[in-house]
Amino acid sequence: MKKLGIIGASGHGKVVADIAKKMGCYQEIVFFDDNADRVQCGDYSVAGKSQDIFHFECDGFVAIGNALVRQRLQEEMEKRGIHVPVLIHPAAVVAEDVQILPGTAIMAGAVVNPGSVIGKGCIVNTCASVDHDCKLNDYVHISVGAHLAGTVAVGEHTWIGIGAVVSNNLAVCENCMVGAGAVVINDIKESGTYVGVPARKIK
Ligand SMILES: CC(C)(COP(=O)(O)OP(=O)(O)OC[C@H]1O[C@@H](n2cnc3c(N)ncnc32)[C@H](O)[C@@H]1OP(=O)(O)O)[C@@H](O)C(=O)NCCC(=O)NCCS
Repeated sequence: MKKLGIIGASGHGKVVADIAKKMGCYQEIVFFDDNADRVQCGDYSVAGKSQDIFHFECDGFVAIGNALVRQRLQEEMEKRGIHVPVLIHPAAVVAEDVQILPGTAIMAGAVVNPGSVIGKGCIVNTCASVDHDCKLNDYVHISVGAHLAGTVAVGEHTWIGIGAVVSNNLAVCENCMVGAGAVVINDIKESGTYVGVPARKIK
C-alpha cells in the first residue's frame, strides 16, 4: 500500500493532499506537524511531529510556505532516503517537455508552457501561469493567479505574490518577495521586497 506523508497540516497542506488524492497514486495520506494543536487536516489525521515521518514507510512531501523551512525538510527527507514526488493537479495544464523536480506542487488551473524548467520544492499555485521557456530555481513560489510571461527566470527562494505579473525576458533574482498585484517590467537584481506598478523596492 502506497502512503504519502505530508509535513504541514495547514490550508496549503490540505490542497496538496487533495492533489495527491486526485492523482490516485496513494492509498493513504497522513500529516505531520510540529504544532501539537493540529490534530486533523481536512479529512486527514495528523500522525505526529515532522520528525516522526522518518519512522513511517511512506513517500514524503513538504507543504510549508516558508521556502527555507521547505528546503531544510525536503533536503533532510532526500538525505534519509524518503522518496519525494512531484504533485500535479489533474486540472493543471503542463506542456509535455516541461521538467519538474521533486517536491514541486502544481495546483489546479495552473498552466506551465513548453520549454520551462521548474526546480525542487516549488509551488505553482492555483491559476498561476508560467509561460514558455521560464526557469524557476529551487523553492520558488508563484502565488495564486500570478503570471510569468515567456522566458522569465526566477531565483531560488523567491516568492511572486498573488496576482503579480512579470513581463517577458526578465530575471528576478533569489530571495525576493514580489508583492500582491505588482508588475515587474525590469530585471530585479537585488534581493528584497518589491511592490507596485511598476514594481519598486521597499525593503
Ligand atoms: C509585499 C508584502 C510582503 C509586504 O508586507 P510587509 O513587509 O508586511 O509590508 P507592510 O504591510 O508593512 O507595507 C509596507 C508598505 O508597502 C505597501 N505595500 C505592501 N504591500 C503592497 C502591495 N502588494 N502593493 C502595493 N503596496 C504595498 C504598504 O501599503 C506600506 O506602505 P506605506 O509604508 O506607505 O504605509 C505584502 O504586502 C504582500 O503583498 N504580500 C503578498 C502575499 C501573497 O501573495 N499571498 C498569496 C499566497 S498564495
